[in-house]
This record gives sequence, C-alpha cells and structure tokens, in this order.
Amino acid sequence: MRSRILLVATVTIYAALYAADAEAQTRHTIWDGVYTDAQATRGSAQYRQHCAICHSANLSGSYETPPLTGRFIPYWSGTTLDVLLDYMNTAMPLGLPGSVDRSADADILAFILKENNFPSGSTELKAGADDLKAISFDTEKPQPAGPVKKMKSK
Ligand code: HEC
Repeated sequence: MRSRILLVATVTIYAALYAADAEAQTRHTIWDGVYTDAQATRGSAQYRQHCAICHSANLSGSYETPPLTGRFIPYWSGTTLDVLLDYMNTAMPLGLPGSVDRSADADILAFILKENNFPSGSTELKAGADDLKAISFDTEKPQPAGPVKKMKSK
C-alpha cells in the first residue's frame, strides 16, 4: 500500500516536471530571434507594396495613420504575435482588408520586428496561429544591456 502511494507521488512529480519543461521549451518572446533576416527582406518588399503608402516607408506613420515603431511597441506589449498578425490580416491594409495572405503578413511582421531592433535568428516566423501564440510580445529586454533605441542603429 505504502509503495503504491509512493509510486503515484513519483509519477505525479515526473508529470509536473515534464509539463514545466515542455512549457519552457515552447514559449518564446520577440527577443529570442523569432524571424530570419531573409524573411525580413521579403517582408520589406511586401510592406512597401501594401503598407508604406499609409504607414510611410520608415514606419513612422502620418497624421491619420499610427506609426509601427515607437509607441506602437508598448501598445502591443503583453499580447502574443497571433493577435497582432490576426489584426494585420483582417483589418489591414485599410480599405482592402484581407488582401494580403497570412504568410506575406508573417514576412511583414518579421520586417516590423527588425525595424524595431528585435533580433533576428535562424528560424523563420511561421504564419500558423499556434506557432504565433507561443511568442509573446515582451517589450522588456531579458537582460538589460542599455536602453533600446527607437530606430535601427545601422
Ligand atoms: C489606407 C491606409 C493604410 C494602409 C494601406 C495600411 N494601414 Fe495599417 N493602419 C491604418 C490606419 C488609419 C490605422 C489605425 C486604425 C484604427 O485606429 O482603427 C492602422 C493601424 C494599423 C496597425 C495598428 C497600429 C497600432 O498602433 O496598434 C497595424 C499593426 C497596421 N495598421 C499594420 C498595417 C500593415 C501591416 C499594413 C500592410 C499590410 C497596413 N497596416 C496597411 C492605415 C493603413
């Protein structure tokens, strides 16, 4: 009897550890290099074609159109990337919503992250809702290494 209780307890602990481990492996933030430079380059072309006319070539927006840098970042803080991509895909481009497909939107999102100085990595940003849900829009850099510049430093 006692050994059975011990067995149940052991299994429970292992299951909890396994779940915690799996969670740690699948959750990311936009600081983890969630897109590639090549993808951002493709996104740049898409952005120029579909978005720049209103949000301007350098993402600074205009009188009627909000910027996609600066205050844009704290505004989306705490969400996950699926929320932002869904918004881009269903509400934008204004006037022709839904005219850009999700994979092109993912490329544009990669470009927006790059322009906001979030690091690139070795894996492309996928357009699937579940993949994007696993990436949170954290505005705080994990280990502080100086203030985040508003525009790219190149
Ligand atoms: C015809 C002009 C126009 C075009 C083209 C356009 N947008 Fe927008 N966009 C707007 C306006 C205006 C708003 C503000 C909408 C609102 O407040 O409801 C906006 C809002 C946004 C937001 C939310 C900004 C915030 O502060 O949260 C995002 C993200 C965005 N647009 C992305 C895009 C992307 C990506 C494209 C290209 C695929 C695009 N937009 C094309 C006019 C445009």
